[in-house]
Amino acid sequence: MKTLLINIKEILQVREESIDKLEGSAMGILPKLDNAYLLIEDDIILDYGVMNECPNTDNMDLVIDATGKTVLPTWADSHTHLVYSGNRELEFVDRINGLSYEEIFNRGGGILNSAKKLQETTEEDLYKQSCKRLEEVISQGTGAVEIKSGYGLTLEAELKMLRVIKRLKDNYPIAIKATFLGAHAFPTVYKDNHQGYIDLIVNEMIPAIAKENLAEYVDAFLETGYFSCEETERIIKAGQAYGLIAKVHVNQFTAIGGIETCVKNGALSVDHLEIVTDEDIEILKGSITMPVALPTCSFFISIPYTPARKMIDAGLPLALASDSNPGTTPSGNMNFVVATACIKMKMTPEEAINAATINGAYAMGVQKEYGSITKGKKASIIITKPLHSFYELPYAFGTNNIDQVILNGKVQNI
Ligand code: NIG
Ligand code: FE
Repeated sequence: MKTLLINIKEILQVREESIDKLEGSAMGILPKLDNAYLLIEDDIILDYGVMNECPNTDNMDLVIDATGKTVLPTWADSHTHLVYSGNRELEFVDRINGLSYEEIFNRGGGILNSAKKLQETTEEDLYKQSCKRLEEVISQGTGAVEIKSGYGLTLEAELKMLRVIKRLKDNYPIAIKATFLGAHAFPTVYKDNHQGYIDLIVNEMIPAIAKENLAEYVDAFLETGYFSCEETERIIKAGQAYGLIAKVHVNQFTAIGGIETCVKNGALSVDHLEIVTDEDIEILKGSITMPVALPTCSFFISIPYTPARKMIDAGLPLALASDSNPGTTPSGNMNFVVATACIKMKMTPEEAINAATINGAYAMGVQKEYGSITKGKKASIIITKPLHSFYELPYAFGTNNIDQVILNGKVQNI
C-alpha cells in the first residue's frame, strides 16, 4: 500500500539521520521542509522531498492533497496514567473550595480514592473506559504513549491494570509502553508498615508482572509523604533484576535528593520536576536520564511549572508529556501540553515540538521508530488544518487544528 501526501505547506521535524534526543540550544532548532511531498509504504516513511521532485501520483493507492497544511510526527506522550476507573471531579470542586492536593490525599482521597474505585471495577469495564480515553488521545495526534499502573495497589488489581494495558497494546495501532507503578502510594493497610508494602512489591508484584511480561518500566512516586529515596532505590533495583528500567515521579512538590537517586540508578527519565535545584541540574548534565515536564499538571492543580528555560539554557534536554490521570491532569491532549509549555514555561514552539516528539520518544524508548520524519521510521504523522505557520498550533491553544492522523501508515477515523 502506497500513500502519497502532496503540496504539504511545511513538514516539521524532518531529519535525514535519526537522532536519539536533543539538548540545550539544539532544542531550539526544528528542521523543516517547505512545499513538500511525503511517501508512505505500508507502515513506513519511504521518502520525502520538495514538490518539484514529487513522484507520479498514478502509481499510488491513496493520494492526500495537503495544500496549506502542516505535517509533523505524532506526539510521543511518555507519561500517562490513562487506565483508571471513574473520575475525581468532586475533589476538583474541593480544591476550588480551598483544599490542597495534599489535604485531599490525607483525608483518604487522591490516589487511594482512585485505587478503591479501580479495585471494584471489572477488567472488562476498565478496558472499555480506557479505550475511550485512548481513542480520544489518538484523535488529538498522539502516536506513542506510555501508560502506568498504580491505581491497583494490590497484586490482583495491579495485574488487572497491566492486563488492560496489554489488551490496548494488542488492539490499537498506537505504540504503547507499560510501566509498573505499584509504588504510587502506600495502601491504608500498610500506612504504618512501609517495609511490608515494599516487600510485597519486590517479592510478589514485580516477579508476577515479569512472568506475564506485562511491563517494560518501573516507576515510584518519590516524594515527601510517599516513597523515600531509599525505598525507591530498592524498587528500582528489584525492577532492574527483571529487566524493568526506571522512569520515576520525582520533585513534584519537594526536592529530597530524588533526582540523584534516579540518575545514579540509570533511570531513563525523571518526571514532574516542578521543583528543581541547581544541584539537580548539575546531576542531570551528561546523564542518560531525560527530564520530563508535565505542564498541564501544573496548570490543573496550580503548582509551579518546571523551570524549562533554566534547564534548557543550562544545556539539558527536556521532554513534554501529559500525565493524563484522574487527579492532577484529567486531559491527555498533547496539543494543550505544547501550548502550555510555550505560554507558561516560555519554551519556543520549536523547543516544545522537539520536546513532545523526539525527546518524548526517547523518554519512552521508542526514538528509533518514532519522533521524527526520517526514512525508515514508522509513518505516524499529524496532518493539520490549513495554518498560517506552525506557530499557530500553540498560539491558537483552544482550537483543534488537527485534520487527520495517520498511525503506522493507516489513516485514522477521528
Ligand atoms: O503524576 N503524582 C503522582 N501521581 C499522579 C497523580 C495521581 C493522582 O492524583 O491520581 C501525577 O500527578
Ligand atoms: Fe504521573
